[in-house]
Amino acid sequence: MASNTIKRIQELKKSRNAVILAHNYQRGEVQDIADFRGDSLELSQQATRTKADIIVFCGVHFMAETASILNPQKKVLLPDASAGCPMADMITAEQLRQKKKELPGATVVTYVNSTAEVKAESDYCCTSANGVKVVNAIKSKEILFVPDQYLGDYISKKTGKPMHLWPGYCPTHVKILPENIIQRKKEHPKAKVVVHPECRPDVIALADEVASTSGMVRYAARDDVKELIVGTEVEIVHRLTKENPGKKFIPASNKAICPNMKKITLEKVLDSLETLTPEVRVPEEIRVRALIPVERMLEIV
Ligand code: 13P
Ligand code: SF4
Repeated sequence: MASNTIKRIQELKKSRNAVILAHNYQRGEVQDIADFRGDSLELSQQATRTKADIIVFCGVHFMAETASILNPQKKVLLPDASAGCPMADMITAEQLRQKKKELPGATVVTYVNSTAEVKAESDYCCTSANGVKVVNAIKSKEILFVPDQYLGDYISKKTGKPMHLWPGYCPTHVKILPENIIQRKKEHPKAKVVVHPECRPDVIALADEVASTSGMVRYAARDDVKELIVGTEVEIVHRLTKENPGKKFIPASNKAICPNMKKITLEKVLDSLETLTPEVRVPEEIRVRALIPVERMLEIV
């Protein structure tokens, strides 16, 4: 029974001195038992602040890796080891090394949705919340942005800085099409539209606001937002609805589901706390190199 599972999770969390972090796309019931919910940036910041010995990361692999890069002395658990991010796997460290040879003067800015090995080859990291700030802070004339071409395109337009873009994309966000937004606007003419910068440029062009998942949480709380069409993974509507009673949230497309985020269940969280597995640990030689771009990002924001 779910209530027994939740009770046992709470007990083990205390006895093991563990903290549970959950991304805004996690199943509602997983978000509800977490100590902190947030976007990629907030969760990595939270990982550096926690006094817990164990971090149970309810998200996908690169997020747990980032927590481990920042906290080598802590045990980081990912309740389902196979919860990956297909976009993060669209570039390998070897491919990036090759590209750097072709563009020897370029500064490499890497979206946090990437493997630790790729971060280790990078100059700066960024998230969807701080990409514009990070790129604005870079003096170099030539920038290579990996792996998300759409976030890169959005940042390039916002900063006015042309960038070389790696052709990666999020398979979940590309399911949101311009016609979905147009249809939703017809159905809800008073609604505002917020979309994630991983969306295609023709979707971004139709939005009132472009934001990271926690940026969306803040936007939804504004007094002038009563009805909101949300262009990102559908599960964020759980948090938006819970925190904004009386407001209406409409997913731009019900097809925008990240199957990897859905792999984490309450039962797996409990199992993870019981067995202290699966652990995500970045080999020290990679970790020390990956830490540099991550810390540079955290200094800018
Ligand atoms: P946020 O950093 O905005 O939470 O996004 C993470 C992500 O994976 C979006 O698909
Ligand atoms: Fe990766 Fe997209 Fe899932 Fe985010 S929504 S974790 S970018 S596949």
